[in-house]
Amino acid sequence: MKILVTFYSRSGKTKKVAEAISEILKCDKEEIFDTKNRKGIPGFLSAGTDANLRRLTTIKEIKNNPSLYDLVIIGTPIWSSNISTPIRTYLSLYKEDFKKVAFFCTRLSSDSKKVFDDIKNITQKTPLALLELSSREVARDQYMQKVKEFINNLKEEIIK
Ligand SMILES: Cc1cc2nc3c(=O)[nH]c(=O)nc-3n(C[C@H](O)[C@H](O)[C@H](O)COP(=O)(O)O)c2cc1C
Repeated sequence: MKILVTFYSRSGKTKKVAEAISEILKCDKEEIFDTKNRKGIPGFLSAGTDANLRRLTTIKEIKNNPSLYDLVIIGTPIWSSNISTPIRTYLSLYKEDFKKVAFFCTRLSSDSKKVFDDIKNITQKTPLALLELSSREVARDQYMQKVKEFINNLKEEIIK
């Protein structure tokens, strides 16, 4: 099965999780880059506003065509209780191209359900597995157990 892990990360947490997943699964990964500068306080504020208003942005060209994969695992940080703007943009551009999907997110303390439901609505796909991690767990390297459970859940769904 061909698997792709697609993620956006402003400050490295979601990237760390994406790398752990792709290393275990030995699969390709696609980091999404925003052309809008999200650094510093102005970047933080624009990120919060754009996510809250569910705006789209312009992302840099992707390297891996998602339609060539059997499963795309999509990871986003939560911004203003929403999908991050670069991942919302990726989903809106490629929503027709996914076969099977799974989602993960990192966040401080927000409930991830709303974000996962939103991704589900955009992709019109039921995820094979879900993973939510707090940025604290990731920063303290206390996330591998949940990552492994997520991958086990995925494998169980794949062989069903
Ligand atoms: C603009 C912005 C808004 C955020 N809003 C929320 C939020 O509503 N709820 C929450 O739990 N965390 C929120 N966070 C925290 C991030 O989701 C969290 O730190 C995440 O792990 C960052 O991932 P990254 O390092 O991959 O960018 C926000 C972060 C940013 C930059």
